[in-house]
Amino acid sequence: MRKQPLVGILMGSDSDYEIMAETGKALKQFGIPFEMIVSSAHRTPERTTTFVRQAQQRGIKVLIAGAGAAAHLAGVVAAETTLPVIAVPIDATAMRGLDALLAMVQMPAGIPVATMAIGKAGARNAGIFAAQIIAAGDSDLAAKLEDYKREMAAGVIKKAESLEQRLLDDGLL
Ligand code: RP5
Repeated sequence: MRKQPLVGILMGSDSDYEIMAETGKALKQFGIPFEMIVSSAHRTPERTTTFVRQAQQRGIKVLIAGAGAAAHLAGVVAAETTLPVIAVPIDATAMRGLDALLAMVQMPAGIPVATMAIGKAGARNAGIFAAQIIAAGDSDLAAKLEDYKREMAAGVIKKAESLEQRLLDDGLL
């Protein structure tokens, strides 16, 4: 049986999937069950509000909204819930995601959304950030996040060492 999802991911269109899959990968890495649906603030407003209004009672802890263009999705989601909402701006138009970024990050006072970077990095960070929120009440998950940071730091040290070797090999040191 599939585990009860803790994170709900909405995206405005299936064309956002390639980016939002990065969020799913990050959540999977930390063992966090999630659900992912296509639902648009503009094209399917009722579907969006129904999903969000039911999310908390279904056990969802964090909502993530990925959208491009005039990206109202995260704001609409935040309007309907007291769950934390994370926004991922998608590069979907000639404005390369800047339109979505500004729509998401410039929320008026009172309705916060935590806006990530445009594209894949932001989508991955949305998953990690959701894990960090959930980890506030889950010490096993907090330990996984600490391991992840340690491994990332070790990776950087390894790269620094191979760079030094390369400089030596190239006679630059
Ligand atoms: C937004 O419009 C979606 O989130 C998507 O990024 C963008 C384009 O959607 P499609 O025309 O590809 O369905 O609502």
